[in-house]
Amino acid sequence: MMKLISKQPSKRIFSGIQPTGNLHLGNYLGAIKNWVNLQEEISSIFSIVDLHAITVPQNPLKLKASTREVTAAIIAAGINTEKSILFNQSSVKEHSELAWILNCVCRIGWLNRMTQFKEKAGKNRENATVGLYSYPVLMSADILLYRATHVPVGEDQKQHIELARNIATSFNSMFDSKSKDFFCLPEPQILGPGTRVMSLRDGTKKMSKSDPSDASRINLTDTKDDIFNKIKKAKTDSNPLPATIKELEKRPEASNLLKIYSSLSDEDLQKTLDSFAGKGFSYFKPKLIELAVEILNPISSEMRYLLKDPVEIDKILVKGKGKAQKIAEKVLKDIKNLVGLIH
Ligand code: TYM
Repeated sequence: MMKLISKQPSKRIFSGIQPTGNLHLGNYLGAIKNWVNLQEEISSIFSIVDLHAITVPQNPLKLKASTREVTAAIIAAGINTEKSILFNQSSVKEHSELAWILNCVCRIGWLNRMTQFKEKAGKNRENATVGLYSYPVLMSADILLYRATHVPVGEDQKQHIELARNIATSFNSMFDSKSKDFFCLPEPQILGPGTRVMSLRDGTKKMSKSDPSDASRINLTDTKDDIFNKIKKAKTDSNPLPATIKELEKRPEASNLLKIYSSLSDEDLQKTLDSFAGKGFSYFKPKLIELAVEILNPISSEMRYLLKDPVEIDKILVKGKGKAQKIAEKVLKDIKNLVGLIH
């Protein structure tokens, strides 16, 4: 019987975020806000996933700066680096090694179904990098390298986590012939009303870093005036706000702004609707601006403060790398043993 050196934790969180461009309200409400709450109860590992960022062209100097910026944003938003592990992905080489092994488990048919690749590669598919295509395998490696049980993300990552579950199941049956449970199946945690924050210019499009219009998103670095102007100009319809969730279904912009309010205020959507039913956007928008500024302004000021000392940010990342690698090394050794690789 093969002796394993890594332990399956009863609960462990892994999640990641790409260091490309500004973090926006979607990243905050869909991911980071939940990370901050969950870290209190479950031991957590968070990564700035720079290897994912290079699946599309990046400017090397900007990539380093963005990695530090995203690290600062995550800390400013409330991740406690004494309690949780925070590091940049490329500093733990085991991520790439495991991704290769999992490339030999994942089937081409599974990757062909990934909608995010189709969206990102667009019409120019032949010219997309192999990295962009196999990106979900690297994401599976990120999660499985820590034998993570829970993965808090926004809705757009759900399909990738389902793939990680398929890869884990397949690995277990290919290599863990006795118990077939080396990897547990990680659970996506898609929590709260902000799991799919939409563009402020078009309520049917996801808020995204890559939208050419800066007015479509609220960045975590936006000033009070930026937030004011963007929400003031946000697209709406001409009806008063409804009283029920059902009535929001055909009103994408109203639905988005109300969900943002509900998520920022930590109250459920129905309660937000109860407060604003029958009121116009001219009443609601100033309330939303006030709330957004109240929550986001302290994060951006703290972020600017932290960024004044990039050496300290690098130190935090190095400390996180040490802690992450300690776990990753053991798991990868077990995996190599199971696969039959001498190490
Ligand atoms: P990324 O960098 O695109 O986004 C980071 C997190 O923000 C969430 N998010 C949103 N949530 C709500 N509304 C939106 N408009 C919105 N836009 C983004 C994303 O769902 C995500 O949770 N592949 C991942 C990063 C990753 C990862 C991982 C995540 C790499 N390895 C392992 C979890 C586990 C990505 O590109 O996220």
